[in-house]
Amino acid sequence: LNYRVPQTRRDIIQTLIKGLQRMEYRGYDSAGVAVDGSGKDHAASISLYKKTGKVKALDEEIYKNNSIDFEAELDTHFGIAHTRWATHGEPSPLNSHPHRSDKNNEFVVIHNGIITNYKELKKYLVSKGYDFESDTDTEVIPKLIKYLYDNRESNYMSFSTLVERVIQQLEGAFALVFKSIHFPGEAIATRRGSPLLIGVRSQYELSTEQIPVQYNCSKCSFLFPLGNSRTDEQEKNALNRRGSTNALHSVHDRLAVEFYFASDASAIIEHTNKVIYLEDDDIAVVVEGKLYVHRIKRTAGEDPVRVIQTLQMELQQIMKGNFKAFMQKEIFEQPESVVNTMRGRICFDSNTVILGGLSDHLKEIKRCRRLIVIGCGTSYHAGVATRQILEELTELPVMVELASDFLDRITPVFRDDVCFFISQSGETADTLMALRYCKQRGALTVGVTNTVGSSICRETNCGVHINAGPEVGVASTKAYTSQFVSLIMFGLMMSEDRLSMQQRRLEIINGLQKLPELIKEVLALDDQIKSIADELHHQRSLLVMGRGYNYATCLEGALKIKEITYMHSEGILAGELKHGPLALIDKHMPVIMVIMRDACYKKCHNALEQVTARQGRPIILCCQDDPEISKMAYKTIELPHTVDCLQGIISVIPLQLISFHLAVLRGYDVDYPRNLAKSVTVE
Ligand code: G6P
Repeated sequence: LNYRVPQTRRDIIQTLIKGLQRMEYRGYDSAGVAVDGSGKDHAASISLYKKTGKVKALDEEIYKNNSIDFEAELDTHFGIAHTRWATHGEPSPLNSHPHRSDKNNEFVVIHNGIITNYKELKKYLVSKGYDFESDTDTEVIPKLIKYLYDNRESNYMSFSTLVERVIQQLEGAFALVFKSIHFPGEAIATRRGSPLLIGVRSQYELSTEQIPVQYNCSKCSFLFPLGNSRTDEQEKNALNRRGSTNALHSVHDRLAVEFYFASDASAIIEHTNKVIYLEDDDIAVVVEGKLYVHRIKRTAGEDPVRVIQTLQMELQQIMKGNFKAFMQKEIFEQPESVVNTMRGRICFDSNTVILGGLSDHLKEIKRCRRLIVIGCGTSYHAGVATRQILEELTELPVMVELASDFLDRITPVFRDDVCFFISQSGETADTLMALRYCKQRGALTVGVTNTVGSSICRETNCGVHINAGPEVGVASTKAYTSQFVSLIMFGLMMSEDRLSMQQRRLEIINGLQKLPELIKEVLALDDQIKSIADELHHQRSLLVMGRGYNYATCLEGALKIKEITYMHSEGILAGELKHGPLALIDKHMPVIMVIMRDACYKKCHNALEQVTARQGRPIILCCQDDPEISKMAYKTIELPHTVDCLQGIISVIPLQLISFHLAVLRGYDVDYPRNLAKSVTVE
């Protein structure tokens, strides 16, 4: 929303479209925008544009439209835009957002999340004569606000009161932004369960870094107490008072300001790095260029202010550089990203590891009875990869759980459990639900995320930022290796005072120090790996087999392959080979085997014998100078050797590269695979 910052309509549409393009990496299947109409009184109507496919297609569609006056200069303007990832209803212009209340677009809404009671609401609204045009859950929201507006008890009912009444009817998860022709130049946003932040850009210095949060109470000078409505006279008084109590409510006194509402900072970072993260049940209102945040109800012990934070993220960090795809860039960033994860945390002289975010809780963690590591997708694999070394270093039982399954099982959790939530985005709904579940049961919760300020960061008792830098490619790569390193560092921190473990700790710490160099050695094999991909890219299937410390490597490698190449791929535990997967092996079935020099070497060798005995032609990831393995392989990729528990960081990289090359050779969009989203904020 730009307030007294004159801009042409073209600039405004461009800002919205650009913001959507920055978010495309999260996954999408359609996009839409709503801006003020083109008439003389531009705010008296709202124009909606929607399109399936890429944001670029929407952009082109808008510029084809002759009726838009692109050069009109607007003083105050509020536009909204959205990219959709289908949950209810197929990707189509009608199903994409913004959704509207009626053919006149009186109210338009964008929504992230899921409304679980939409069927009941829809039935009610249909019975009241409201026509629905989409198959989405979201559409009940604009219909409901119009219903409340049409049936308001008094002539003046504020936009925020209407929104408040709407969200009291909603169940599920949402981040919402509303726009209305009845409240021109006014913006309302709210959230419950889905992320939402506000960027603030002003020509003037912000006079305070904190925004007081209001509560709905009879003393509030601005918002109606719930269930009450005011007479015109009362409202006039309230508005007058509002003028005189600005010191309490406003961010700062200013003449010109722009506000950006977004679910992800990357959409707005080129405009401002000053952001406020909203909490569940916050309602943010921008009116007359001032921002107000209030809550529906007061919860005991909650923070009464929202702080304006300064983000350190830079735009070039999220740009592609000279790489073909973000994923490729991120794979090649790993020598630096693992260093960033360790920076300031490991002292290689004294062999100490300090994770500042856990220090205050370390005593409590050491007293626990069990560690539970929870995540989804790649983040879950980081837990699988480090389970064994965590068991060894902490001498605690370690459970590694997929968040969705953990919840499905209603898994018993106790007060003396410590639960880790691994998530690149920090917003994955399944992981977040598991976090709330464990918190309710009194366990200590620890977040391991890549996104400062994310929901998981904020809702856990303590945590570790993996500091891998923004990850854009939907298929996670550098976040995995940094999660891996973070969990290892946790194990090292836990075992610092165990005499019997000092030798082992030393070995691992030395291994961590050499890691960046070894990663560079693996990346130098890119051409050789590409030639293997050349040979494989017409195949329909690809098995990846290993065991012990490298079982997770196989799961993660297979996930990369299916995510972006759409080939069937399975990570197979070599110990299970003879219990089923062996039936798949013949001379046609492509198999990759991971056989490193560790405690499982002999057993992996046995699996290799079983594969070659069935005319299998395995491509083997093995250690340098291993003639015995090499002679049985169809092809080898020889990798530098490191400590057993760190080897998975090295051996996953050729699989990341293979999947990248396969996807390119098969002609697919590496960064935006079909049907997938970077950040899945729905259960
Ligand atoms: C989605 C992504 C995966 C990711 C998973 C967990 O499924 O497509 O790449 O591994 O979510 O995401 P998180 O942000 O919690 O690590």
